[in-house]
Amino acid sequence: MRVLIVGDIVGRPGLDRLKFELESRKNNIDFCIVNGENSASGRGIRIKEYNEILNAGADVITMGNHMYYRKEMLNEYAKLERLAIPANITNIIGNKHVIVQKNGLKVGVINIIGKFAMGEMLEKNIINAFDVVIEQIKELNENRVDYIFVDFHAEATAEKIAMGYFLSDKVNCVYGTHTHVQTADEKILDTGMAYITDVGMTGPKNSVLGLKKDIAIKRFTTNEYLHYECSNNDAMFNAIEIEFDDKTKKAISIKRINK
Ligand SMILES: [Fe+2]
Ligand SMILES: [Fe+2]
Repeated sequence: MRVLIVGDIVGRPGLDRLKFELESRKNNIDFCIVNGENSASGRGIRIKEYNEILNAGADVITMGNHMYYRKEMLNEYAKLERLAIPANITNIIGNKHVIVQKNGLKVGVINIIGKFAMGEMLEKNIINAFDVVIEQIKELNENRVDYIFVDFHAEATAEKIAMGYFLSDKVNCVYGTHTHVQTADEKILDTGMAYITDVGMTGPKNSVLGLKKDIAIKRFTTNEYLHYECSNNDAMFNAIEIEFDDKTKKAISIKRINK
């Protein structure tokens, strides 16, 4: 199985670039997971973006801390069958994992959120990622899935690397999202699990993590809280491509895409 995992989609530029990339790769990919937490103008996701990402060719959409920005969506997440929300957030209702059956294989996807530097309000509503991920893996195994992917949405590299080793004999891939900066540490562990600390961002290139540069600089130089505005220039595409042996379920290759 060949899997494409795409880093946080930011706004219209990210959505357009995703469509273009998935269109040109559709014959070479068996399964696609996209992080959509910034797809609605940089802040959260709405039903419109959810449908747009799935229509572009994604099989599952994962999320992160930005779900709180869309108050109108709080009663909607649970209805979106292909949307996985962080399983260890206590005060948002949604799917704690997603299972998709495709080409004779059953694939489970878990989204989990980190504890460090995620904002005070969020930290109060997060329970231990390491405990919760094990519960979710147990449920997926009871459902006899063939593959398990874990999107660990977190800021701290140590927390993400520790999660990778913690799950190295329990799942097929652990990858990070949230920082919007791709890391150059993609690898296959001895167990055959694929790992990268952060997939990166599919969003405006000339920006600060997708945010307009001048607003970001002003935030830091004045300490003033300025409203987020998504940058609107051309998007970069950040993703990883992994190939698995369907007999052993071990990763054969992992490749970073940053263009
Ligand atoms: Fe993000
Ligand atoms: Fe995030």
